[in-house]
Parts: sequence; structure tokens; C-alpha cells
Amino acid sequence: MEPSPAGSFSHIKKRQENDGYRLYRSDHAGLELKAALVKRLSEKGHDVHDLGPATTESCDYPVYAKGVCGKVLADAGNATPGDEPASFGILVCGTGIGHEHDRQPHPPASRAALCGCEFQARATRQHNNANVLCLGERVTGQGVALDIAELFLNTAFEGGRHLRRINQIEG
Ligand code: RB5
Repeated sequence: MEPSPAGSFSHIKKRQENDGYRLYRSDHAGLELKAALVKRLSEKGHDVHDLGPATTESCDYPVYAKGVCGKVLADAGNATPGDEPASFGILVCGTGIGHEHDRQPHPPASRAALCGCEFQARATRQHNNANVLCLGERVTGQGVALDIAELFLNTAFEGGRHLRRINQIEG
């Protein structure tokens, strides 16, 4: 795994033909869960790039959120809000809240979702076409968080009335 100059943590995997890849990172309070995600997803054949941070030395989560969300947006290119994301991001901090607040908030904005259960993970993909998952290592148990991540990555956007609502936000 190659560390990036940005010091982020990313995981890349082709799920199927024409499918996108995944970008992951944490702050110092998300290291343990980040490591568990790398392990779980590596075991499942995902191409994982852990780009840091590598230690529990205090660092600033906005630096990490901007990096991942910027990549997700760059990957999206000229995609419309109804398109399946070309890539997904996962941000892990202590609560998940800081990262969710600091997702690329200005248009074009990433659609970041803080999830604490599988219901939210499924719904935010089906209804919000979320492209960034935020997790709180100090809040959500590791087993639940891993299942949330897998469900998030494997659930498709439903479109229809949900796309109308996303367009109302982003339009
Ligand atoms: C770090 O102490 C903590 O503030 C951070 O990981 C995150 O939870 C912020 O929202």
C-alpha cells in the first residue's frame, strides 16, 4: 500500500464492469476502525490503499474530509446527481460528525451521510445517492460499522422521486 502525499486513506476496488472505486480515510480518532475496514475489504478482494494517518497523533479531520470528498467529486466529473457514483468515500473520525460537517460543502457538493445503523446505510444509498459514508469509531461498534460500510457500497440508488428531491437540493 502506497502512502499518498495528501496523507489520506483510500481503498480502490472495481466491483464489476464499469463500476467505480472507493476512497477511505480517518483522523487519529478513527484509526482502529479504519484498520478494520482495510482488513475486511482486503479480505473481500478490494484493492486497498491506506493513505494515513498512520498514528494516533492528533490531527485535523477537515484536512482529510476535503481530500476524500474532493477526489469523489473529481471522479464524478460531469455526472448528474442521479448517476451511480464513480467512486465512494468513507470517512472515520471519533463521532463521524466532524467529517460529515466538513464534506465538500460548496457546489458541487459531495453527498455525505453519517450512518449508525444498516437501515441508514441502505436508505442513504437508495434515497440520497450518498457518495461519502461517515462513521464514528467512538460511537458505532466495529462489527456494525463494517456491515454498514459493506451495505453502503453494495446498495444502488433508486432514482424516481428520490432524484427529484436531490435535484431540489442541488439545483
Ligand atoms: C477528535 O477528538 C474528534 O473531535 C474527531 O475525531 C471527530 O469526532 C470530530 O467530529
